[in-house]
Amino acid sequence: MSDNIAKIILDGKTYELPVVVGTMGEKAVDISKLRDMTGYITLDNGFANTGACKSAITFLDGENGILNYRGITIEELAEESTFIETAFLLIYGHLPNEQELNRFSDGLTRFSMIHEDLKGFFNGYPSSGHPMGILSAMIGSLAAYYPELVKPDPSREEVDSIVVELISKVRTISAFSYKKSRGEPYVYPRHDLKYIPNFLNMMFSSPAKEYEINEIVVDALQTLFILHADHEQNCSTSTVRLVGSSKANLFASISAGINALWGPLHGGANQSVFTMLTQIQKEGGDIHKFINKAKDSNDPFRLMGFGHRVYKNFDPRAKIIKRKADAVLNDLGIHDPLLDLAKRLEEVALKDSYFIEKKLYPNVDFYSGIIYKAIGIPEDMYPVMFAIGRLPGWVAHWKEMIENPKNKIGRPRQIYTGEVNQHYIPIEKRS
Ligand code: CMC
Repeated sequence: MSDNIAKIILDGKTYELPVVVGTMGEKAVDISKLRDMTGYITLDNGFANTGACKSAITFLDGENGILNYRGITIEELAEESTFIETAFLLIYGHLPNEQELNRFSDGLTRFSMIHEDLKGFFNGYPSSGHPMGILSAMIGSLAAYYPELVKPDPSREEVDSIVVELISKVRTISAFSYKKSRGEPYVYPRHDLKYIPNFLNMMFSSPAKEYEINEIVVDALQTLFILHADHEQNCSTSTVRLVGSSKANLFASISAGINALWGPLHGGANQSVFTMLTQIQKEGGDIHKFINKAKDSNDPFRLMGFGHRVYKNFDPRAKIIKRKADAVLNDLGIHDPLLDLAKRLEEVALKDSYFIEKKLYPNVDFYSGIIYKAIGIPEDMYPVMFAIGRLPGWVAHWKEMIENPKNKIGRPRQIYTGEVNQHYIPIEKRS
């Protein structure tokens, strides 16, 4: 590679490909013309080494454990900012001034109600239904209620309006799915409460008792939502971009993103960590038995909350969350044996050569469930909490993509490995 040109030799012929350099110095070989030039495509299982777009939203350096939103470190934002301010930053590219923040926050308050007809949808779900399935279906259904916003090329004002509707309503829908699963009456959003207290009130108030806002809990959720708000081209964000690249509307794209997030290798991992820790505890707390299972290539068991596609040193979000988990449990006066178990598991795994060699460290999901548990969130809601936090990131990526006139529909290629030259055989002649 020299002078921003990469050379590739195929079938004895040398081809030159442009090199792209990002603002933080990361480099890519632009292979978009490779097939036209050479007849070859690139093959990259799981897109582990493929850049799908240029983006100005989030920078991540997995080797050095760096995560920045719009150039600001995640540590600074977790310490100084609020989730709503961070959401604005991600979506609009700058920290809001007072007027912008007030307008954004007012919109979030005003649009928090959901259509009464939409409320009826909840009755159709069994109370055992997983809230992620309900959330995804309900967000997709919102498109039917806002036909004026469902068009291939919405204006800037229309996009602003969908964004506020979504970020506001996601809390109401999430809290309503929780209430549905408990067979309790829905609690409507309140205009006098801010974003997080409003959500907690909808979750935990009941006709018998009004929820008392606890600032420790609000602060913990604030931090968790900020840490989850974006993570560049992860599985769910790539899904949102891929779906949106066909000019599908934002509701449809986000609904798809929620489903991608649900998987236990992605945002569903926080629930799986909880299930795993509970299982270890139930079976007598033998950590080594489970570490050995995780190391056994013939055993499908994996240490949930460990490992990451891009972090190969440490996950900066996990560091902050671990500290937060300690502080929250301390402040709330809770002693949770699961936290002790998680800490012991981490200690043993981090000294084990398997985990050291494969660079497997605790990720964001390892400790978040402990905090959710401490503040009374049930385990099937953990991925929903991740979704509420991740929504601004999904929105920011969708918006960045549709505002780029050069954006193309996402359409990977493949190498075909199936049968060749087969013929149709009538059913009576098939063996
Ligand atoms: N426990 C045991 N072994 C593991 C684990 C684990 N948690 N994670 C990876 N490995 C092994 C894996 O078996 C493989 O071994 P080998 O090279 O011998 O085949 C090697 O490490 C590389 O793993 P990989 O699956 O090729 O790595 P990946 O980048 O494709 O997968 C991952 C990343 C996060 C899906 C994976 O580490 C994993 O399954 N972790 C557990 C689930 C989890 O915690 N997910 C949350 C991710 S963070 C939240 C988010 O951003 O979504």
